[in-house]
Amino acid sequence: MAAQTPPASTGAPLGVGVVGGGSIAEWHLSSYARNPGARIVAVADVDLARATARAAEYSALSPGSEPVRAYGSHTELLADAEVEAVSVCTRNDTHSPIAVDVLASGRSALVEKPMARTVAEAEAIVAAEAASAGVVQVGYVRRWSPNAQVLKTFADAGDLGAVYYAKATCLRQAGNPGGWFADRSVSGGGPLIDVGVHFLDLAWWFMGAPRAVAVSGYTSDRLGNRGNIESLTRWKSADYDVSRNSVEDLAGAVVRFEGGAVLHLDVSYSLHGRPQVGLALFGERGGAELEPALTLFTEQHDTITEVVPHVDSRSFDIVPAFQNEIDGFVRAARGLEPSVAPATHGLEMTKIVTAVYESAARGAEITL
Ligand SMILES: NC(=O)c1ccc[n+]([C@@H]2O[C@H](COP(=O)([O-])OP(=O)(O)OC[C@H]3O[C@@H](n4cnc5c(N)ncnc54)[C@H](O)[C@@H]3O)[C@@H](O)[C@H]2O)c1
Repeated sequence: MAAQTPPASTGAPLGVGVVGGGSIAEWHLSSYARNPGARIVAVADVDLARATARAAEYSALSPGSEPVRAYGSHTELLADAEVEAVSVCTRNDTHSPIAVDVLASGRSALVEKPMARTVAEAEAIVAAEAASAGVVQVGYVRRWSPNAQVLKTFADAGDLGAVYYAKATCLRQAGNPGGWFADRSVSGGGPLIDVGVHFLDLAWWFMGAPRAVAVSGYTSDRLGNRGNIESLTRWKSADYDVSRNSVEDLAGAVVRFEGGAVLHLDVSYSLHGRPQVGLALFGERGGAELEPALTLFTEQHDTITEVVPHVDSRSFDIVPAFQNEIDGFVRAARGLEPSVAPATHGLEMTKIVTAVYESAARGAEITL
């Protein structure tokens, strides 16, 4: 692996490589393809046929250009000197070793969430980032959704004041993606580490990234993966297999932070009930709902009022969110701006998620 210095802003597009050619890779690749400051150099997957298919698909978009190369491992991709920055889009158990190798080669890594399964894996990435010329950006794509960006502007201007309470909910009826997602030894867990980490991160980011001090969590596995439900489409692992499942159906937690702020989270893959997505923030000067639709709450002239921003979408909007995330990573890999989601953020989320599982297993609050 060739050590590199950060790619300079020469005007030439940033050469990017994508490791993992499954479902989420498509979102990374299509967003890089729309960024004039980036050039897709290579795709790597342990399933070489899948990498080859992805490479062919994206080569076809730029007929006159050099074809996108396909590799069967991330180490081969990192030996390609034209790769200057890397998206890590593989299953959760491989994020840490691959990200560490990317950083050791001096490149920046956009690491899909969850950044890691365990605190030790997360700490390895933090150490590798500290020693590298490259940066980490964790794939907290919901931060980049236009509704979240608008709310961040309001929050940073002080409209919410100190946020002392938050509620985050993502309840799916039949949303277990199967395959490796449903294998705890590979994924690290179910809806909590998968979708819960998005909502946990969002709330934490808006709360000002406080340090968690205590976690009380619960999990349940009464319904299984509801693989019998065929009337609803679901996100599916590239290797969907309905017969295996060792992760929780439902998880929740109360997280207490330094300074007294509290977060209440609940998430599910399987549940008898209406799907729900919610993110509410309660501050000393105002409040906000980011999901299901951006709304602010305040007090004006002794009257409680709601403020409804007029924006293209008041809910999570995945296409611009991914584009913003990828565009932000290209700028961060160039050194034009700091990473908004460095490995230390991924480590904090990993500490909370693992404490929820530990608390659920022990039936007791965990002090961090
Ligand atoms: N940001 C989001 O909203 C979002 C949504 C879905 C998935 N994800 C995350 O993206 C990651 C991938 O999820 P997915 O849905 O694309 O899964 P997937 O199963 O569809 O694809 C994973 C791919 O990685 C390949 N792979 C596995 N190990 C590898 C290795 N060591 N080297 C190279 N390739 C390897 C597999 O062959 C497969 O093609 C997961 O961490 C998941 O949590 C994020």
